Amino acid sequence: MVSRAVMFQRYGPPEVLEVVDVEAPTPGDGEVRLRVRAAGINPFESKLRAGLFAGQIPVSFPAAQGTDVAGVVESIGAGVDTFAPGDEVYGASARRGSHAELALAVPGQLLRRPAALDWELAGGLWTVASTAVAAVDAVGVQAGDLVVVAGAAGAVGCLAAQLARQQGASVVGVASERSHAWLRSLGILPVAYGDGIAERLRAAARAAGAALAALVDTVGGGYVALGVELGVAPERIDTIADFEGAREHGAKADGQSALVDIPAAVERVASLIVAGSVALPVAACFPLERVRDAYELLEHGHPPGKIVLTV
Ligand SMILES: NC(=O)c1ccc[n+]([C@@H]2O[C@H](COP(=O)([O-])OP(=O)(O)OC[C@H]3O[C@@H](n4cnc5c(N)ncnc54)[C@H](OP(=O)(O)O)[C@@H]3O)[C@@H](O)[C@H]2O)c1
Repeated sequence: MVSRAVMFQRYGPPEVLEVVDVEAPTPGDGEVRLRVRAAGINPFESKLRAGLFAGQIPVSFPAAQGTDVAGVVESIGAGVDTFAPGDEVYGASARRGSHAELALAVPGQLLRRPAALDWELAGGLWTVASTAVAAVDAVGVQAGDLVVVAGAAGAVGCLAAQLARQQGASVVGVASERSHAWLRSLGILPVAYGDGIAERLRAAARAAGAALAALVDTVGGGYVALGVELGVAPERIDTIADFEGAREHGAKADGQSALVDIPAAVERVASLIVAGSVALPVAACFPLERVRDAYELLEHGHPPGKIVLTV
């Protein structure tokens, strides 16, 4: 039995990605095999494929890729009693292999898909939902806080901004102008990035009549330092993209791995989406065979929301 799967043989740009026939993965003890319906793509995969983590997380070639996944359980390995063939699930794949027709997963990283959660969104939720929860937890959002989210048009950023609002904060979202109307519709005050951003954030705080209490950085490139400059306490700054800045300023760098219960965090965000209290658009869907186009869009400026491969 074969499976079509995205593979790459060397580090490089999206052109190194190929969709090839591989032997169907066999679920080992405690694993399930999914017939994939949708699989989100993430900036982490771009960085891994480009070799930016070659020192810390080397890959062995040929390499598969993809974490986020939604699909139907097709077969189960020994010892699995929480899922059965036919179950519709979403979560994370095991061993980074979700960009394929068939992928392995472990039950502890799977949730049952609510019928009201579209396959595409379910397939792109695990990483960004858990990371957004971790980042909002890290800065200790309280009702009445004025919170800055850098990268508010991104998948993690828009969820973090909305979760902070859910917790009673007012949120300033740093994003390019094309997303400002959308952010306003979510109750987030948009501020453009680029020259003069410090003054625009000060003006936003003056208009709100409150000091900037916390900052969530999903972009890097100086937002940690900017938060400190604007008077935010370092322990109320969290970055998921600027680890050096966090070290330098004593800020936090909590991402998904800071969570004690990742599935519970993802399930909470999914429930808010299903209830219509939180929005995460699907920016674009591409069939598996067009995986290069999907990453080109991710890496060169994409509309707000998740980019998802459909199978
Ligand atoms: N540590 C972890 O656990 C963890 C987990 C998930 C993701 N991450 C990292 O977090 C980052 C964001 O991930 P994501 O999935 O949200 O990516 P994404 O959906 O591609 O969002 C990134 C957004 O950043 C915005 N942006 C670009 N330059 C900006 C600037 N100078 N100021 C403000 N916004 C800017 C872009 O929107 P506009 O330009 O349209 O405004 C873009 O939509 C990535 O670096 C990813 O690797 C870390």
